[in-house]
Amino acid sequence: MIVLGIETSCDETAAAVVDDRRSILANVVLSQLEEHRPYGGIVPEIAARAHLEHVDRLIAQAMTEAGLGFAQLDAVAVTGGPGLIGGVMVGVMSGKAICAVHGTPFLAVNHLEGHALTARLTHDLAFPYLLLLVSGGHCQLLVVEGVGQYRRLGTTIDDAAGEAFDKVAKMLGLGYPGGPALERAARAGNPAAYTLPRPLKGRPGCDFSFSGLKTAVRLVLDGLGREPDERDVADIAASFQEAVADALADRCGRALRQVAETHPSVSALVVAGGVAANTALRARLSRLAEEHGLTLVAPPLGLCTDNAAMIAWAGLERFRLGERDSLDFAARPRWPLDPTAQKARGAGVKA
Ligand code: KG4
Ligand code: ZN
Repeated sequence: MIVLGIETSCDETAAAVVDDRRSILANVVLSQLEEHRPYGGIVPEIAARAHLEHVDRLIAQAMTEAGLGFAQLDAVAVTGGPGLIGGVMVGVMSGKAICAVHGTPFLAVNHLEGHALTARLTHDLAFPYLLLLVSGGHCQLLVVEGVGQYRRLGTTIDDAAGEAFDKVAKMLGLGYPGGPALERAARAGNPAAYTLPRPLKGRPGCDFSFSGLKTAVRLVLDGLGREPDERDVADIAASFQEAVADALADRCGRALRQVAETHPSVSALVVAGGVAANTALRARLSRLAEEHGLTLVAPPLGLCTDNAAMIAWAGLERFRLGERDSLDFAARPRWPLDPTAQKARGAGVKA
């Protein structure tokens, strides 16, 4: 079984081909970093236009790399949401066109389901497992019970973790995207130099919050009473990174204790999303998983950040269970993985 995946929901245009033996036959990703850099963040209209300009070429490139023609595909899986709607529509229309011409089954995949099932592509992981999804757009804890079966234990009540990294990096003058730049700066810093809050630490539930931490960094900077020098930037970056890792580990620890009761057969703690690239965070979560007698599973970086292999794989998992979607499918800007989850309450709650 061979599936083409297409991903256009954020600022990466991507196409990939995977098969049911867990081989990635092609995986091409085009980042729009340079288009958005002058604005210090993603501009939805620019993203949609860039997807439109490049998506056909990327799909063709993936098919060539896989050495396949469209007629040899068993299905086409496209990110159907959630995400920036203009971009999602570009991908959905491209996928539908291929399916309409070749009579290929079409699957509209939830982007978050792509992240959630990646560990089964890379590590052949059995259900159920606990997933910490930490990216620029999302910060969620989910029990992945099966294909299409997700229990959300917690989500952010304000910013996503990656968003907090990006905003703090901007305050520190580290540029965009902030996560990798902040991690580099933190290497030279002392994580104990500043006492920053660990939002929601020790509180009931598994929700996240980062806006207070961001404000605390702003207050530290204002309190310096001068422009921060290299040493200040390194120390603040290291202290911030430590606070985020600590806050995330606290929430994951609570979730692991909860899951031990409700899902005793949980096999691993999985971390995915762009922030999973952070070495300090990985080390912290790895220790935590060990304390709970589990292993930390982290897909390789290129499959943690947005890509189309995860979309192709999630589509393949659904397709082999007999599912497919209609060509009438309409792109969804919001699409919660667990529709039964209690709505999080907070200032800037994401779906
Ligand atoms: O998953 P992703 O590529 O895109 C989505 O947001 O869906 O994640 C990007 C986010 C950005 O906020 C970026 O700053 C953050 O992941 N990030 C990091 C690191 N690398 C990327 N955050 C902390 N440390 C890193 N090394
Ligand atoms: Zn993503």
